[in-house]
Amino acid sequence: MSDKLIIFDTTLRDGEQSPGASMTKDEKLRIARQLERLRVDVIEAGFAASSNGDFEAVKAIADVIKDSTVCSLSRANDRDISRAAEALAGANRGRIHTFIATSPLHMEKKLRMSPDQVFEQARQAVRFARNLCGDIEFSAEDGYRSDMDFLARVVEAVIAEGATTINIPDTVGYAIPELYGQFIRTLREKVPNSDQAIWSVHCHNDLGMAVANSLAGVKIGGARQVECTINGLGERAGNCSLEEVVMAVRTRRDHFGLEVGIDTSQIVPASRMVSQTTGFVVQPNKAVVGANAFAHASGIHQDGVLKARDTYEIMRAEDVGWSANKIVLGKLSGRNAFKQRLQELGIEMDSEAEINAAFARFKDLADRKSEIFDEDIIALVGDESVTS
Ligand code: KIV
Ligand code: ZN
Repeated sequence: MSDKLIIFDTTLRDGEQSPGASMTKDEKLRIARQLERLRVDVIEAGFAASSNGDFEAVKAIADVIKDSTVCSLSRANDRDISRAAEALAGANRGRIHTFIATSPLHMEKKLRMSPDQVFEQARQAVRFARNLCGDIEFSAEDGYRSDMDFLARVVEAVIAEGATTINIPDTVGYAIPELYGQFIRTLREKVPNSDQAIWSVHCHNDLGMAVANSLAGVKIGGARQVECTINGLGERAGNCSLEEVVMAVRTRRDHFGLEVGIDTSQIVPASRMVSQTTGFVVQPNKAVVGANAFAHASGIHQDGVLKARDTYEIMRAEDVGWSANKIVLGKLSGRNAFKQRLQELGIEMDSEAEINAAFARFKDLADRKSEIFDEDIIALVGDESVTS
């Protein structure tokens, strides 16, 4: 099994399905360029058949992106697939991603089709797509709530027709990590030609477990592609977050033993760009990209990181694109952090007694003000002590 984990970004497709997150062609193009700088392996640029605007966006992205594979979603019918192929015609590397639901609930209530009809449609769609493109992904929508034996039959058939990636979504975010990982593993074991395709996971975050489920799909299930979005953008509670999954695999390489090709220093710029474009604010305590992800406010923690950063940091802020970690001065800060900030501000004090007195004034102020800024400290110690 490959030791590379393929990062498939669907910010521009599933992310855009988040209510209020729709993007113009130019906005999508700008984000696609950033995703290429981030070195994602696959950019799902949109759903070409869904509107003329999305067709134009997928086409524009396919025409300019050279390093990442560019992908378009399509339902499992000839019209959608042809439209995707048309939009991707200029791509250096293009992928058609076709899907159909396989769970009893979706087949009966949504598609109003029998399992045999779904089986046949999936097979024909992949056969048709394979004549237009060499890189075909098949997704079994609501795959995790599907009957395992039926799903195994569908997957075996679409691989035989030439699907190169098999994606098993947890469309409604219902999975639990161990169960999802085991589901992927058992399914792979049931499909005789399973090693002729790359297995992929696509998890939604309805129970807040999209990242954990994706990682279990990789570790337990043997998936080698994760579908994710910047900032976890996506329908309802969102999709698996790219920055979290990538940094988990990087930081815990000892556990996963996998390589990701991502330039992690582009993570924060990508997060900001997506947030600014969609207007979706990133919560301050969001892992990796939240404003507080590398901020230290308690005195004990501040003292620790000033002595050795790994005491309270498992990753470097700079490695994901922040300029540095952040010591937030406030009422919980200790003398050591205060003294360090004086030095950074170029404030020299003649004696330890003077520092102690300034520190006492700082603590008084911090009881009245939740965050102490550099300007407060300069005012507190008096301008005369700032060296030029
Ligand atoms: O969540 C889902 O099932 C999807 C598929 C279309 C891949 O987004
Ligand atoms: Zn999805």
